[in-house]
Amino acid sequence: MSTTEYKPGISIEDLPPELRQREPLKLASNENPLGPSPLALQAIRDSLETLNIYPSKQLEWQLRQAIAASISDQLGPEHIVIGSGGIEVLEFVARSHLPTPDDASALPRQSFPFLARFSGRSGNPINFFDLDEADFRYQPERIAAAITPNTRLVYVCNPNNPSGTYSTAAELQQIMAVVPDDVLLIHDEAYLDFVDAPDFPNLLPQVLAGKNIFLMRTFAKIYGLAGLRLGFGIAPPAVIERVAGVKRNFHINKLSLVAGLAALNDADHRQRTIANNAAGKQWLTEQLTRLDCHVWPSQANFVLFSHQSVPAQMLIDGLMAQAIIVRPAFGLDNHIRLSIGTPEQNARLIESLTAVLN
Ligand SMILES: Cc1ncc(COP(=O)(O)O)c(C=O)c1O
Repeated sequence: MSTTEYKPGISIEDLPPELRQREPLKLASNENPLGPSPLALQAIRDSLETLNIYPSKQLEWQLRQAIAASISDQLGPEHIVIGSGGIEVLEFVARSHLPTPDDASALPRQSFPFLARFSGRSGNPINFFDLDEADFRYQPERIAAAITPNTRLVYVCNPNNPSGTYSTAAELQQIMAVVPDDVLLIHDEAYLDFVDAPDFPNLLPQVLAGKNIFLMRTFAKIYGLAGLRLGFGIAPPAVIERVAGVKRNFHINKLSLVAGLAALNDADHRQRTIANNAAGKQWLTEQLTRLDCHVWPSQANFVLFSHQSVPAQMLIDGLMAQAIIVRPAFGLDNHIRLSIGTPEQNARLIESLTAVLN
C-alpha cells in the first residue's frame, strides 16, 4: 500500500463532448443517487422570492437548534457549528486549532485528504500515520507515534473514506486513550447515516461530558444536498465557540439554511436513501466479487475494490470510454472507490465493467 497523489474528481461537465452525448454516469463522489430531499427542494422554492433579503441570524440559530434536536434532546444549538459543506467546517477546525505555524496535525495517510491539503497550504507540520495494510484499521499505537508535543489535531474518518471500513466503539476507546486531553480529536462521521454495524461508536456521551472531541457531519450524502454545501460539527460548547470564532458572517446562504431545516424532517427520503444504498451495496459487492474483484466491507455509500489481476487504471479508463466515471481511491494505489447508484446505474456499471474485462 502506498500513497498516490490526491487528484480532484472528474465531473460530468469535464467530459469531452463525445462522452457527454452518451448519458454519462458518475459513480465517483458518493453523491445521493436518489437526488436531493424533496422537502428541501420545496423549501428552496418557497424562499426564492425573498433572496433580496439577507439571511437572519435567527435562521442559522434555528437550524443549529433543529440539528441538535434531531440528534439528542441533550444537545442544544451551543453544541453545533454549521459550515458551507463539511469541508468548510473542517477548515474552521483547522484554522481555529492551528493558529501558529508550528501547530501540527496527526493525520491518516489512507483517508479523506482535506485536512492534509489545508495544512499543507498553510505550511503547518503534518505527522502522517498509516492504516493497517490488510484491513485499513486505525491502529492506536501508530496514532500515538504520530503525536508530538506540538500536535493540536488528530483526525479519524469513521467510516473511513476511501476504504468504507470502520473503527469499532472498542477501537475508538483505545484511540481516545492515546490522544492527550489538550489535543482535539476529529471524528469525521460524514457517512454515519449509512452505518448499520451495531458496534459503531457513539461519541455523543464524550461530547456531552465536555471531552475535546469534534464530530463532523454533512447534509451532502444522506439528504442529497452536496451541491448546496451544508455541513455541521458537534462538540462541547467551548470547542464550538473556538471553531465558530474564525468564521465570517453570512457564510451560509439562505437557501442552504431553509433546505437544511426542511431536510431534517424528510424521513421518507432518508429511509429511501438508506434502503437503496443497502440493497445496492450488497448487489454490487456480489457482482464485483463474481468478476474477480476484492471488495472491502463498507459501512458507507461507496465500496472500495481492486481486481485480482487487472490494474485499476485500466478499469477506470475502460469505464470512462463508456462514459462512466469512477474514482481512483486516494491514498491507495491500484484501488477504485465506487459510489452506490440506483439499481439501473449499478446494473449499467456491472455490464460495462464486464465488457471491459472481456
Ligand atoms: C469523509 C468526508 N468528510 C467530509 C466531507 C465533506 O463533505 P461536504 O461535501 O459537506 O463538504 C466528505 C465529502 O465527501 C467526506 O467524504
